[in-house]
Amino acid sequence: MRYPAILLPLVVLLSFALSPEGFAQPKRALMQDAHALVFDHTKISRTVENLDNGVRTTTTTSDADLLPVLQRHPREMGTLYQRGGMVRGWDPVFRELAAHSDKVDMAVEDIENGVVVTSTSEDPEVVKLIQAHAAKVSDMVQRGVPAMQEPTPLPEDYGREAATGACPAPASEPAVAPEAPVDE
Ligand code: HEM
Repeated sequence: MRYPAILLPLVVLLSFALSPEGFAQPKRALMQDAHALVFDHTKISRTVENLDNGVRTTTTTSDADLLPVLQRHPREMGTLYQRGGMVRGWDPVFRELAAHSDKVDMAVEDIENGVVVTSTSEDPEVVKLIQAHAAKVSDMVQRGVPAMQEPTPLPEDYGREAATGACPAPASEPAVAPEAPVDE
């Protein structure tokens, strides 16, 4: 049986829209944003409030060029994760968070000079991952590139077997921490 010619482009479009990156920025652009934040970490301030079910973070900058990057980064990373995508596939916390991204609720609110992010979960083990990830972001804000290059160990009291097999690093990413800061 022959299918109408219109079906092929429709199927291609649909599979792209449903892919982890979908119509959002391609992953390379997301990584460029992440690296821009790390390289300019001295221009960023951040506070983290640990909640019973997650975190509320306030991250700000007085740099007008960096502000839009800071405001779109959490939204775009959150969308990537919610679509089943991942970055830093070699990093235990980022990989484990990706395996449980369906249990994370993230609300992002712009403020005048930055962004307030509330990230929560009903699953207490996922709460530990959210808090470990937020601490890692604070470490990157504080120390910049060296913090970015180090893996983030799972919390000591993490009570779940790591879902490493369920969520392998994409082929485009190295399996171990790169020596250079660029880790696509
Ligand atoms: C100084 C550098 C960075 C800043 C200021 C920053 C800022 C943020 C903020 C505000 C959030 C929302 C969650 C939270 O506040 O804890 C976030 C989420 C995220 N960031 Fe960054 N980030 C930085 C570097 C990076 C790098 C280098 C990567 C990876 C290459 C990355 C990947 C992610 C991911 C995957 C999420 C979403 C996690 C989830 O869905 O739960 N960030 N980042």
